[in-house]
Amino acid sequence: MPYAAHVALPKKTPVELVRQRLREVARDVRDRAKARIFGPRSKYKEGDLLTVSFQGKHAGEVLYGTTILSASRAMKVDLDHFCGGCGSCGTCRVFVVAGAEHLSPIQMNEEITLGAEAARKGHRLACQAKVQGPVEVKIPDYFLAR
Ligand code: FES
Repeated sequence: MPYAAHVALPKKTPVELVRQRLREVARDVRDRAKARIFGPRSKYKEGDLLTVSFQGKHAGEVLYGTTILSASRAMKVDLDHFCGGCGSCGTCRVFVVAGAEHLSPIQMNEEITLGAEAARKGHRLACQAKVQGPVEVKIPDYFLAR
């Protein structure tokens, strides 16, 4: 009969494995919530000049933290903003072609105005989205036809 020291015991019991898996899931949920609330870490910082491009044509540089609406006004790009930039009318809606990760995280009022589906598909309110890295946006055609 082998000594107890020779019996190969599993390193973790099923209960320990379940607890470990639950901790991993909780950590993953916490990290995703943090990223959603605070946004991903960016290599850009306050004071940096960042490129914003509209329709791939009008491009210019703005300071970190400038809203897309302010960038459009600085570059003389015609972008409606009927509510004056308070995030309630939705007329400043843009589609983010590239650099969505370089915009400030979407807030609840913005998501309500856009609608969850549009927000998921990459639409943002220019008056709410702050530039935190190079971005390219497109103004929807139905706002351009005038
Ligand atoms: S200007 Fe009205 S929502 Fe942006």
